[in-house]
Amino acid sequence: MNPLNMRDLLADWEKRGHLSRVKREVSPEYELGAVLRALKGERPLWFEKVKGYSVPVVGGLGGSRKLMADSMGLEESELLPNMVNSIINPLPTNLVTQAPVQENVITPPFNLGELFPIPTFHAEDDGPYYVSGILVVKDLDGKKRYTSIRRMKFIGGNRTNIVITSPELAEQYAYLEERGEPLEVAVMFGVVPAVILASQFSTHLFHADKLNVAGALLGNPLDVVKAKTVDLEVLAEAEIVMEGRILPHERDQEGAFGELGGYYGGHGREPIVEMTAVTYRNNPIMQTIFPSSSEEKLSMCLVREMTLFSTVRQVVRNVKAVHVTKAAAARLHAVIQIEKRSEGDAKQAALAAFASDKDLKHVVVVDDDVDVFNPEDVEWAIATRCQADQDVFIIPGAKGSPLESSHNLRGVSAKMGIDATYPLSEKELFRRTSVPEPYDHINLQDYL
Ligand SMILES: Cc1cc2nc3c(=O)[nH]c(=O)nc-3n(C[C@H](O)[C@H](O)[C@H](O)COP(=O)(O)O)c2cc1C
Repeated sequence: MNPLNMRDLLADWEKRGHLSRVKREVSPEYELGAVLRALKGERPLWFEKVKGYSVPVVGGLGGSRKLMADSMGLEESELLPNMVNSIINPLPTNLVTQAPVQENVITPPFNLGELFPIPTFHAEDDGPYYVSGILVVKDLDGKKRYTSIRRMKFIGGNRTNIVITSPELAEQYAYLEERGEPLEVAVMFGVVPAVILASQFSTHLFHADKLNVAGALLGNPLDVVKAKTVDLEVLAEAEIVMEGRILPHERDQEGAFGELGGYYGGHGREPIVEMTAVTYRNNPIMQTIFPSSSEEKLSMCLVREMTLFSTVRQVVRNVKAVHVTKAAAARLHAVIQIEKRSEGDAKQAALAAFASDKDLKHVVVVDDDVDVFNPEDVEWAIATRCQADQDVFIIPGAKGSPLESSHNLRGVSAKMGIDATYPLSEKELFRRTSVPEPYDHINLQDYL
């Protein structure tokens, strides 16, 4: 059975050599983040001693495709099919009455800053931020739960800011605010990568209960328990849960903050969350994610790949693989691999990709002998199979991502499609060089 809680996963990964411990004391201010960043958020790290706190911190759990898949008992190639299956066949959570996450319960007054480490990440960030908390809310009629991640700056006592950019949650908060009512929330820390991945499934597209989706990703239903002070269920085996309310008609300055695109954003007046309780396991472990690292981007890329794969396939049936690259803010670039069957397939695939995801800016389509996850291979295909005057097309002034930073028309972007496939009539000329069997797959250890 796959580990369903973070402790079990950490123990399993430690046994198999996937987890490294940082024994030296680190400061939560910049130093802890710098270590995660140096490893691009791709290696699971356990910080044993965080200055000023007795609670350890882990990070980098969901930044590598291999380990993300491993945490669900899968190979990398099985990730997307498993994600599709988990939406079609979610596994409903199991409600329990006793939960490890409620072994300790604190109610106000408390100071969040004294309880668990809250890292400060970038040089110009305006304070310490929670970046990995999984926010749980219910929709307006109180029937459906959904989860997401929203960064929250600690602003003192039991209060944080919260940044909400998704339309559904922003509209729900605006609806309640108009009526002078708060939005009840719970924020879960210390969860397995599947819970983070599921939280990134778009509500707009799927309207799924993402805790049920996470159960399906793991192959087992997850236990939930009723929160102590809000009408929500939270994961029974999370490490830490903060319960609270997003207040109506209150705002506080937020940002600068180092964002996904590698620039500082923020500087807005954002809503405030007032925590009404904190619950946690005995010997809790705090979890963080270095913003803009591989760990923040990978789950976003995977969810976009899943969507692209199925939408492009509606138009070009022979799509083999899709890669939304992390470097391009986990949304601006895609590489699509097709088995080309007729001329025009590649441009059609690029057009379908643009139509299905407004954030995409540059799309490269390659043949099925090119590895979409290998940037050198993709560059080779562009260099050797593309003529700019015939194979590149540009659509000016289309809708774009708010994270598009390259000009001042925010939300508007040119789209560029690159057909890096060879002409079908010249297949013979485009055979890749190779060495014959059995030397095409040698084991270097036999020689070095
Ligand atoms: C590490 C991480 C941090 C994120 N921070 C924010 C944030 O501060 N504000 C926000 O609106 N979305 C943020 N997101 C993206 C949302 O979580 C994502 O859009 C959402 O979960 C998609 O679900 P939804 O359609 O239900 O909103 C973050 C995602 C990750 C992985």
